[in-house]
Amino acid sequence: MGNTTLTQNPDTPEVKPKLQTYQINLNDCGPMTLDAIIKIKNEIDPTLTFRRSCREGICGSCAMNIDGGNTLACLSRIDRDTSKVLKIYPLPHTYVVKDLVPDLTNFYRQYKSIEPWLKQKTPPPERENLQSIEQRKKLDGLYECILCACCSTSCPSYWWNSDKYLGPAVLMQAYRWIIDSRDQFSAERRLALQDPFSVYRCHTIMNCARTCPKGLNPGLAIAEIKKQMAFD
Ligand code: SF4
Ligand code: SF4
Ligand code: FES
Repeated sequence: MGNTTLTQNPDTPEVKPKLQTYQINLNDCGPMTLDAIIKIKNEIDPTLTFRRSCREGICGSCAMNIDGGNTLACLSRIDRDTSKVLKIYPLPHTYVVKDLVPDLTNFYRQYKSIEPWLKQKTPPPERENLQSIEQRKKLDGLYECILCACCSTSCPSYWWNSDKYLGPAVLMQAYRWIIDSRDQFSAERRLALQDPFSVYRCHTIMNCARTCPKGLNPGLAIAEIKKQMAFD
C-alpha cells in the first residue's frame, strides 16, 4: 500500500515542503493509520515526525488530515484497498513545526484565555462542590473533548480569523464552564466573549461537528453561548 505524507523540515528552510510516498506491507502492519506511520518511522524513514501518545483516542495528539478529513490517526482505519494511496497532511491552515506536527501555540493561548478552570466567589466548601444529577448531565457532550483541534482547523471562519475568533474547540470549553452549576463566573465569562470576533465569527457551517473524532458538536455549544449572550 502507498502512503503519501507531507514532509517539511525547519532545519532546511530552503527545501520546499514536499509530498513523500512510502510503500508498506499491510499484512505486516496494525490496522490504523497511526500504525502505518509508526511503521514507516521505524522501518523506512526515521526522520518522519508526528505526535502521538495514547494510541486510543484519548490524548488528542495524533490529529492530522487523513484522506481529506481531520481526524485522529490512531482511530482512523486504513482502507484495505491497496490500489489507493493514503494521503496524510498536517492539520490544515496551521503553521507546521515539522512534517505532521502543527504549531498549536495560538490554539493553547486561546484555550488559556477562557480560563478553563472552576472559579468561585464564595469560600471553598468544607468538602466537595456538590451537583445534582441534572446539573452534572449538562456537561455531557462537552467534557469529553480531548482538545485535538480537528474541529477548529476544519472551520473556515477559524482559518481566516484565528487571531481573533476563538474557534469551536475553545468555545465549546468556554461553554462547558459557563453552564457548570459550580462555577460562579458565568456572566463574566460571557461578557469576556462580547466582541465582534470571539464568538460571532461562527456562521454555523458545522464542519466542526462533522469532523469531531469524538462525535461532539461544538457548533451546537456555540449556538447555546450566543443564545445566552442574547439575554445578557
Ligand atoms: S470538539 Fe472534538 S474535534 Fe474539537 S477539539 Fe474537542 S475532541 Fe477534538
Ligand atoms: S459551526 Fe461555527 S465553529 Fe463550527 S465549523 Fe461552522 S463556523 Fe466553524
Ligand atoms: S495517539 Fe492519542 S489520540 Fe491518537
